Amino acid sequence: MFNKPQPFVKWAGGKRSLLSEIKLLFPEQFNCYYESFVGGGAVYFAFEDKIKRAILSDNNFDLTVTYKIIKEEPLSLVRKLKEYASKHSEKHYYSIREKKPTVDIDIAARFLYLNKTCYNGLYRVNKSGKFNVPIGKYKNPNIVQKENILACHEALKKAKILHKDFKKIKPKKRDFIYLDPPYNPVDETSFVSYTKEKFTEKDQIQLAELIKKLDSQGVYVMLSNSKTKLIERLYPKKHFKHHIVRAPRFVNSKGDKRGAVEELLITNY
Ligand SMILES: C[S@@+](CC[C@H](N)C(=O)[O-])C[C@H]1O[C@@H](n2cnc3c(N)ncnc32)[C@H](O)[C@@H]1O
Repeated sequence: MFNKPQPFVKWAGGKRSLLSEIKLLFPEQFNCYYESFVGGGAVYFAFEDKIKRAILSDNNFDLTVTYKIIKEEPLSLVRKLKEYASKHSEKHYYSIREKKPTVDIDIAARFLYLNKTCYNGLYRVNKSGKFNVPIGKYKNPNIVQKENILACHEALKKAKILHKDFKKIKPKKRDFIYLDPPYNPVDETSFVSYTKEKFTEKDQIQLAELIKKLDSQGVYVMLSNSKTKLIERLYPKKHFKHHIVRAPRFVNSKGDKRGAVEELLITNY
């Protein structure tokens, strides 16, 4: 028997804290499950027992390569992580951080090693797309996490992983899509750097257009976002249900605004 899978990366905007609300709104029946901003996959891993088939996608390349490696060769990854764990030191951290591997297994091992050992454990990149987080202050970082990698490997057997922009994803009638984009910022310091391209107001508008199209095609849609004027205007209440939820964390670059905030879960069913 495998343990219940948990997200294998710590990811900004991870949805663990909203799982009970999301569970209540999960459609009873659907064909394929889609998640086009999968990030750490908190929702997929929590509810994969309700899912027969899935298409998981994100536009972060290293993240999607890591999903593929966990799906296809988890033990090679564990082996490589054990090697990195045995060499872990400040010097080793920065030497791996500076590398630009091109082979998938090395991309995945670097990605997970840095995620487990970097400051705050959060992936973020600068304007030129470079991962530039300094080493964290963990005494004994848990770098390998073999049991969880194997549990995620089991859970990913029914999933296809794609490195794609959300606009290229095409669910069909009676499929269910959960969308958790970078949030429309409530202030200018909100966390938005998952990739070098920022998720702008124009992207929020294009996402709303896509959701309206999917709605007209009979796809079940659930969207997470912040409760801002723009989002309330893009999803009018006469067409969409707005469920207000309280999220206990708020990713803020200064780390000083971490109280509970109201967020929206929007559905078309
Ligand atoms: C809020 S996070 C998702 C968090 C996820 N629900 C979790 O539990 O960890 C948003 C994700 O959207 C991805 N992303 C940003 N812009 C995108 C785009 N244009 N197309 C697809 N994915 C994108 C980011 O890489 C990030 O993983």
